[in-house]
Amino acid sequence: MTDTTDAQNPGRTDSAQMTAVYPELAGRAAVVTGAARGMGAAFAEGLATRGVNVVGADINDEQMNATAAEINTSLAAQSLADTPGRVVGARVDVTDVADHEALAQIALKEFGRIDFWINNAGIFPFAPVDEISPEQISAVLDVNVEGVLFGAQAAARHMEPGGAIVNMSSVSALRIRRGRGAYCTSKAAVAHLTESLAVELGDKGIRVNSIAPGYIDTEMTRWVQEDPAALKHALDVVPLHRLGSPEEVFGPLLFLLSDSARYVTGHSIAVDGGSRHV
Ligand SMILES: NC(=O)c1ccc[n+]([C@@H]2O[C@H](COP(=O)([O-])OP(=O)(O)OC[C@H]3O[C@@H](n4cnc5c(N)ncnc54)[C@H](O)[C@@H]3O)[C@@H](O)[C@H]2O)c1
Repeated sequence: MTDTTDAQNPGRTDSAQMTAVYPELAGRAAVVTGAARGMGAAFAEGLATRGVNVVGADINDEQMNATAAEINTSLAAQSLADTPGRVVGARVDVTDVADHEALAQIALKEFGRIDFWINNAGIFPFAPVDEISPEQISAVLDVNVEGVLFGAQAAARHMEPGGAIVNMSSVSALRIRRGRGAYCTSKAAVAHLTESLAVELGDKGIRVNSIAPGYIDTEMTRWVQEDPAALKHALDVVPLHRLGSPEEVFGPLLFLLSDSARYVTGHSIAVDGGSRHV
């Protein structure tokens, strides 16, 4: 599930596994949405490698189940220092409130607890602002914003104090990308919603943070790598001059879930090679 590093090719990413370990996370349970592929799959694998049990959920349940099986098989074949977690695949449409509750029930039935909830599922439609259709703006707000809200609500119903929620925002919440008006709007909303959730769920001892990735090497950004002009344009605004890898987003996620971040809430970590400044 990982690429090799190619320092000669600035379009490639550094996908070396993150070695950070927070031992306190072993035995805890996480829900990760949008985990059939891309960053969600990397999060599920990285957490399970460290002993966290994971319900990986996606609207594409066939791919989700295949990804869960692939991760479990891979972990069983490795000689890890600690017992790995287990990844259970499930179907969720994050626009559906009832699906989220069903997901929580799967986690409770399988693992008896929910410690972490990662609202990662998202869509990335293209349209110039004067052509955004009612269907497109509704869809992107439903998936990217309501999906985060409903996920956080389900998590908050079942988490004990000490739980942590992480939402996927984007550098697009901070910088405008042409043709992505609907997406940028949705991710700015995620950043703001994260702060509201942090303020109110703080009453329950639940922390809520967001991650704002830049260009990360997943299917969502495959078009950038397949178009040399788009790749050059993308890398021109990245001070580190390369795309990021899902593993490089996992590192900050792991920190946010860990006890080392236990006084961090309502914060957004940009994982963008510095592109929010250009
Ligand atoms: N890749 C990037 O460069 C980048 C940058 C900034 C933010 N993000 C955000 O990070 C998150 C993950 O992105 P990725 O690059 O891994 O994307 P991806 O397209 O590779 O994966 C997204 C996953 O979400 C699932 N999904 C879509 N709609 C869903 C729904 N209604 N219910 C459940 N699952 C659904 C898809 O089936 C897919 O498996 C997204 O929220 C995205 O907006 C990505």
